[in-house]
Amino acid sequence: MLLLGDVFPNFTASTTEGEIVFHDWLGDSWGILFSHPSDFTPVCTTELARVMNLLPEFKKRNVKVIGLSCDSISSHTEWCKDIKCYGGYNEEYKFPYPIIADNDRALARKLEMMDMDELDPAGIPLTARAVFIVDPNKKFRLSFLYPATTGRNFDEILRVLDSLQLTDKAKVATPVDWKMGDDCMVLPTLPEDQVTKVFPQGVTVVPLPSGKNYLKKTSCPKI
Ligand code: BEZ
Repeated sequence: MLLLGDVFPNFTASTTEGEIVFHDWLGDSWGILFSHPSDFTPVCTTELARVMNLLPEFKKRNVKVIGLSCDSISSHTEWCKDIKCYGGYNEEYKFPYPIIADNDRALARKLEMMDMDELDPAGIPLTARAVFIVDPNKKFRLSFLYPATTGRNFDEILRVLDSLQLTDKAKVATPVDWKMGDDCMVLPTLPEDQVTKVFPQGVTVVPLPSGKNYLKKTSCPKI
């Protein structure tokens, strides 16, 4: 099983933009690999269109996106026309990110993206809706695994990217429902004698019944 912090497996795949070697394709970018049960299905079409509309947001964060669905390249290419239409783009618009053709679900199995509860007409488990975030060092940083019947919230994916990128640079953690710019928590592992030096902008200790001063808020660091 792949653990957060592991090097994300490298793989070669056929995509709508040709063959790729995943680590080379990533280069110095962050990457999001998101999987789909199959082409020409309603929820998947809405998700891929949403990713297309959010591309400027991913670019701002130095993130490349790549989809995966267990059909062929020619099927993906046909499906892209529907996705573009649903996303509000005309047919001439070039589909802006690659989709992996995982016809036999070999990559989905290798990356443990299967949904054993949803079966195709032949009784074979479908690929689930996984989201894997990989950083520029090729480290596996985050995973979501949604069942085939539940579409993902891509605003949440942008939110966690903001948190990952912020907490890589500043000694903070982001609390419940945090959004970029909101107050953050001082890392509980930061020694007490370093708190003032690391956070000259100030820290608010929230009093709690335990009397333990572990819940310290600070304004969102500028990165
Ligand atoms: C969909 O994308 O709509 C879908 C695909 C497989 C199972 C359920 C829904």
